[in-house]
Amino acid sequence: MRLNKYIAHSGVCSRRKADQLIGQGQVTVNGQKAECGYDVKDGDEVSVAGRIIRPEKRLIYYILNKPEGYITSVDDEQGRQTVLDLMPDIRERIYPVGRLDYNTSGMLIMTNDGDLAYKLTSPHKDIFKTYVAEVAGLFLYRDAEKLRRGVDIGGYVTKPAEIDILRQSESTSRVEIRISEGKKRQVRRMFDAVGHRVLKLERTAIGDLKMAHLRVGNYRKMTANEIAYLKRL
Ligand code: URA
Repeated sequence: MRLNKYIAHSGVCSRRKADQLIGQGQVTVNGQKAECGYDVKDGDEVSVAGRIIRPEKRLIYYILNKPEGYITSVDDEQGRQTVLDLMPDIRERIYPVGRLDYNTSGMLIMTNDGDLAYKLTSPHKDIFKTYVAEVAGLFLYRDAEKLRRGVDIGGYVTKPAEIDILRQSESTSRVEIRISEGKKRQVRRMFDAVGHRVLKLERTAIGDLKMAHLRVGNYRKMTANEIAYLKRL
């Protein structure tokens, strides 16, 4: 990026004023007085009147409908596909907020807003996440009652959950579950604890945010209202 643009993007002054400051010798790059047409490179340290400056980052927010078969880290030692492979047009460095298992599909927030990501994944925030699980066997009301009260998932008793049975049959059942925690493989372990293996799992909402008809594998920009809602949480 041109030096005058870099200075303007850092909120110091306009590009024209930046040119004046460069001309007056008030701007240095890596400790050396800078020239007007200089192209700033990654790793350059730019100072104006002795203070280091950095361009303000444009914060971006997306909702991705993650398919099964993708991991939610930004790179993988085993060479598996990551959620970033689904967003090749996004040039900024973004990353997923929280995680979904390789075999889980559904809603994922992708952003470069580190503060928001940190806040949303804090264990002290009770943000409800909604999942729809396809489980093995006939899921009964008494199973739902156990999940509502909390179950032991191996040395940890889960907080109360909200459960809605969407479909029951002898072979498989469909259950909506809302939890405010995010222990590793928590939903699968909760259903295991009541004797129903999860066959398919999809996250359908984060707090009040929904995907709104996003096809699996697609993503969309979050609306200003959605971003404001997340920041208020
Ligand atoms: N619970 C799980 O078991 N898996 C997920 O991916 C998310 C929640």
